[in-house]
Amino acid sequence: MSTRRSFLKWSGLAGITLAGSSMNTFAVTDAEDTRIIHKSGSSRFNMCNFSAPKIDNVGVGVIGIGNRGKGFVSRLGKIDGVTIKGLSDIKPLRADEAKSKLDNKYHNPTLYTKNAEDWKKLCERNDIDVIYISTPWALHTPMALYAMEQGKHVCVEVPAATTIEEAWQLVETSERTKKHCMMLENCCYDFFELLTLNMARQGFFGEIIHTEGAYIHDLFEGNFSRKKYDSNMWRLNENASRNGNLYPTHGLGPVCQIMNINRGDQFDYMVSMSSNDFMMGDKAKELAVKDNFFAEFSNKSFRGNMNTSTIRTKNGKTIMLQHDVTSPRPYSRIHLISGTKGVAQKYPLPGRIATSHKGWFTEEEMKAVEEKYTPNIVKRMGEIAKSVGGHGGMDFLMDWRTIDCLRNGLPLDQDVYDAAAWSCIMPLSAESLNKRSGSVDIPDFTRGNWKTNKPVDILLEKGGNTKVRG
Ligand SMILES: NC(=O)c1ccc[n+]([C@@H]2O[C@H](COP(=O)([O-])OP(=O)(O)OC[C@H]3O[C@@H](n4cnc5c(N)ncnc54)[C@H](O)[C@@H]3O)[C@@H](O)[C@H]2O)c1
Repeated sequence: MSTRRSFLKWSGLAGITLAGSSMNTFAVTDAEDTRIIHKSGSSRFNMCNFSAPKIDNVGVGVIGIGNRGKGFVSRLGKIDGVTIKGLSDIKPLRADEAKSKLDNKYHNPTLYTKNAEDWKKLCERNDIDVIYISTPWALHTPMALYAMEQGKHVCVEVPAATTIEEAWQLVETSERTKKHCMMLENCCYDFFELLTLNMARQGFFGEIIHTEGAYIHDLFEGNFSRKKYDSNMWRLNENASRNGNLYPTHGLGPVCQIMNINRGDQFDYMVSMSSNDFMMGDKAKELAVKDNFFAEFSNKSFRGNMNTSTIRTKNGKTIMLQHDVTSPRPYSRIHLISGTKGVAQKYPLPGRIATSHKGWFTEEEMKAVEEKYTPNIVKRMGEIAKSVGGHGGMDFLMDWRTIDCLRNGLPLDQDVYDAAAWSCIMPLSAESLNKRSGSVDIPDFTRGNWKTNKPVDILLEKGGNTKVRG
């Protein structure tokens, strides 16, 4: 799609999703072969390292109380200085159940379950500070935009956007409203990822040359499960209507923080290649024989089972990213960091580190590295996070850190530019596939600010005073 056409489509979309709100106008480049949109106008404001005013007691609303959202309700409910004020889901039982599990000494959320638009009322309340969004992908951006327009900070599940237009809408709206728009990339808070981030900061790997990430997770049966998704097969539909890397951010987020993407380096361009589908189409046909419910999927063309994308950065570094949620393989996000002085790789587990071709560090050497480089957030909150849980504790580490930043008026670890850049690999990988794996430019959502933006603060020198209930 040409830049101008995508811009027009975007304007149209903005008019629909944000009826009544004023959108700024942008100048676009005339080049028809690039999707990079340069903007002008008064709305520019750098949200990187943006501090919003402190919020002592954070009023929270959650939209989407499904498999993922119910975990947020339960974990956020345990953080001191959080009041869960509203829950929205089109399935009333889910909101009811999540409410019943909350400690009513602290939380008495109103439920917004009347219809598919009821979440708007939750966003419109003036006693809510942040809206968590954990709905199907297509709803992420429209809900995030609406919440920001109502003056709310947003924490939105991955991926934050599914098109380049949506990614720009998030950036533009966050800049104009000066509201945080954080994508909830929880893998940035996993323990080995944080360890390697700290090691990278302290120069252990030397100059980082190349990194690798992935989302290799056997969701084959789950994506076809009527029970798990209550016959709302939105995930299966996504797999049947898109091609490319559908879920780039889990592998990408942690390595981007290590490479200071948006904060010292920037994505430049990418190429992507996919295998054919050898599994999903056959499965849909097999199920359709026994269950007519699957008939509509039996003739669909599913995404290629393995997608491999490579990204080159402005500073001449490379990232390899894979996506495979079909094959019977052990879980892996790869998490490989390769520099001039050393290397780390998390998967297959356990994570390992080396500084030469002779082999990986011994158990003893690993212990010494952990002792020296474990970052403060893990030293302070690691054990509590593990006991509260959520993917082994990384979810709670993210929840706690985000609320602590809001309460202390600190910048959030992930800003709207991260949300946009990490999410946009999904549509751009499809674009590259359409060009026989041709090279595709990656937009600079920071519009040049990456050259001076400061890296994420991982020292935990400020804040850190938020307690956990019980
Ligand atoms: N970061 C992670 O580790 C992680 C893990 C799982 C899922 N996710 C993400 O979380 C999101 C949700 O995934 P899930 O597995 O929980 O899906 P799900 O289908 O179980 O939950 C989605 C919920 O949204 C509700 N919903 C749909 N339309 C709505 C509307 N208009 N108003 C209010 N509620 C509405 C549904 O009823 C459902 O309860 C997805 O974006 C997914 O990618 C992230």
